Amino acid sequence: MSLSREQMLVEMGITPLWVLRDHGSSASPVPLSPDPSPMNGRGEANLSSLPLAGERLGERGGDAAPSSLVSSVAGEPPASAATQEATGDWPELAEAVAACRLCPLCQQRKQAVLGVGDRQPDWLFIGEGPGAEEDARGEPFVGQAGKLLDNMLAALDIARGNRVYIGNAVKCRPPGNRTPEAVEIAACRPYLDRQIALLQPKIIVLLGKVAVHSVLREDKSLASLRGRCFEHAGIPVTVTYHPAYLLRNLPDKAKAWEDLLFARRILRTAGGG
Ligand code: URA
Repeated sequence: MSLSREQMLVEMGITPLWVLRDHGSSASPVPLSPDPSPMNGRGEANLSSLPLAGERLGERGGDAAPSSLVSSVAGEPPASAATQEATGDWPELAEAVAACRLCPLCQQRKQAVLGVGDRQPDWLFIGEGPGAEEDARGEPFVGQAGKLLDNMLAALDIARGNRVYIGNAVKCRPPGNRTPEAVEIAACRPYLDRQIALLQPKIIVLLGKVAVHSVLREDKSLASLRGRCFEHAGIPVTVTYHPAYLLRNLPDKAKAWEDLLFARRILRTAGGG
């Protein structure tokens, strides 16, 4: 049985606030910059910032940067992985990912999980890495966090596979669902970069700290990055909380909804739906 839009918003914990705001109620709208140019040349788009949210720490999908992640900013990822560049079309990419042995995550995976969805998408959502269910099924975000992501998409009137592609920063499951290490993120980055190049989405939404680290090479708090529009390979990029984090921090669902509306405004500015 499919949920109504209202039920989806309830499920996300964002009613009535965001329904009202989306319809131009008394809640302050998020102002767009008067400058219609999407980028400002500093890797950040000319869209005004939303109010910043407080930080919270989480486990998987949280706002905390593991020490390995932090140190990676200053340190060098292993040359073998960092200097790789993925090329080719989807079949070559899928083959390379399936056979990849560039980092230790290959040792315990059941299978690498490339991604799923429309290959000419408006939206690209990037998560962290496969969990147990994703590892078993070969598809990203099929567990509890995935259900929430699907509800978030549904609230935007979009669905997995239709104008949306879903991928991860790392393609193989980290043992015990731990946060991927910086070297693992670096090893997988060429695959993600190639995916982005092939997909050419109109907007990229980074779900959580690991995706932010991979795409933006940024380790600041999510709270400080939300509500801003960055750029990757000429494509606008926004940041929000990881669904697994939202499952543990229900009040922040409202902020995630705010982030998605912000992303949708950017998408529409870029001519997407
Ligand atoms: N969390 C992620 O980041 N990705 C998945 O595919 C599943 C859970």
